[in-house]
Amino acid sequence: MVVWVILVVALVAVGVILTGCQRVSIPRQVNLEGIETSEAIEAYNRINQWPQFKFLRRLVVRELRKYHPDGVMVDVGCGPGYLIAVMARSFPHLNFIGVDIAAEMVQQATRNLSSQGFGKRVEIRHGDVQELPFEDGTVDFVVSTLSLHHWSQPNQALQEICRVLKPRGQFLIFDLRRDAPRFFYWLLHFAETFVVPTAMRSVREPTGSARAAYTPDEAEALLSGTSFRQWKTKRGFGWMFIWGGKNEK
Ligand SMILES: C[S@@+](CC[C@H](N)C(=O)[O-])C[C@H]1O[C@@H](n2cnc3c(N)ncnc32)[C@H](O)[C@@H]1O
Repeated sequence: MVVWVILVVALVAVGVILTGCQRVSIPRQVNLEGIETSEAIEAYNRINQWPQFKFLRRLVVRELRKYHPDGVMVDVGCGPGYLIAVMARSFPHLNFIGVDIAAEMVQQATRNLSSQGFGKRVEIRHGDVQELPFEDGTVDFVVSTLSLHHWSQPNQALQEICRVLKPRGQFLIFDLRRDAPRFFYWLLHFAETFVVPTAMRSVREPTGSARAAYTPDEAEALLSGTSFRQWKTKRGFGWMFIWGGKNEK
């Protein structure tokens, strides 16, 4: 009898593991996600201090080091500005400008960063990635995390990033990938149901963001419609990095 129970439990476990490892294939669903209300912005600011987000920021900084950023770095969709704080400490020779479309997020980022002693090295501006508040060819590096899936006109946004970059400028985008394994979606569902503050749950975060995210192939197709000369995706478990270079003389 005990042997049969162990066998059944083992079979169920194997079934769950095999199902969990399968990558999800669903059409992109937009407008489920969004951190726009004051309550959601305040909640997002709070959860950004959780270890999971600190881990993601470490991942991004580690990836950035590979591209030897220099000069002026713009963080598009900078949210509450925690990544800028980590980058400003990790790359003391760089200047940073955060841009975000949500005025309240801009205020939040300004509050979070103003007391950290970065002085004129860090600035936050209100703006849309589809119409960046910079002259042509004035930015050395554009970084963006967990924001791409929110952009209503991603082609235009990427073209705009290309416009503001200097001739040898680069960008690094980090985002969720929709074709994540089922395990990843189970984890996000668990977080949405039991862990995140109600204000995030009521805007369907974080599962809404995963469903709105692109697959790496879709991201590459978007880039092929821009003036970037080079790009590549680095495919992670439930996320991806997209790097691109303008690479003009
Ligand atoms: C999920 S938050 C990510 C914030 C931050 N980058 C992080 O990793 O925690 C997405 C951010 O992108 C911003 N955003 C959405 N659409 C945008 C756009 N068109 N232009 C600039 N920012 C945008 C939102 O206001 C929000 O602050």
